[in-house]
Amino acid sequence: MIIAVDGPVAAGKGTLARRIAVHYRLEYLDTGALYRAVGLKLLRDGHDPHDEEAAVNAARHVGEVPLDDPALRDEATGEAASIVAANQGVRAALLQYQRDFAKIKGGAVLDGRDIGTVVCPNADVKLFVTASAEVRARRRFDELVAKGVETTFEAVLEDLHARDTRDMGRGAAPLKKADDAHLLDTSKLDIEAAVTAACMIIDAA
Ligand code: C5P
Repeated sequence: MIIAVDGPVAAGKGTLARRIAVHYRLEYLDTGALYRAVGLKLLRDGHDPHDEEAAVNAARHVGEVPLDDPALRDEATGEAASIVAANQGVRAALLQYQRDFAKIKGGAVLDGRDIGTVVCPNADVKLFVTASAEVRARRRFDELVAKGVETTFEAVLEDLHARDTRDMGRGAAPLKKADDAHLLDTSKLDIEAAVTAACMIIDAA
């Protein structure tokens, strides 16, 4: 069984996808971590994330960055990830890794931006998880404050709009809901309610 979970930044899809994987005893892949790993490798090697050749090279060596490196969650890494994600060569280099993961594990929950549209178009269930920009910015702001990062709600909201624009506007695998994906708006749901709603959709499918 393959479950695709897509959606914009801070919609709660990562937490939700992890919980779904535990519930259905499936392996889990955070595909955003792959793009973050490419971004982080570039930053650490002193390259500009806009350097297309260096980015494709980094994507081919993505295995060199452990996917549990805490620096993957940094805002600067997320920003670099969003830049390299618009690079078609980077996406091609990461595509096989993601498809193999689902195949080798005999089923999985994958979360990202293009799982239902590009990586696993034949997924058994597709969820498109979203929430209003204000709710997503509030969640991200609270997370950052809890981590001790100094920022303002306005700055977080602005970053989020920039990330959304880039993710939805890029030519290569733009973020969009697959026609056959189930829309799950978590604006008014806490995580437990979102998990319950997702499991109802998956069970029905
Ligand atoms: O989900 P996360 O914020 O970790 O993703 C980081 C960046 O990686 C996103 O802004 C997005 O541009 C990119 N990404 C992508 N396709 C995926 C997963 C992430 O383009 N399947």
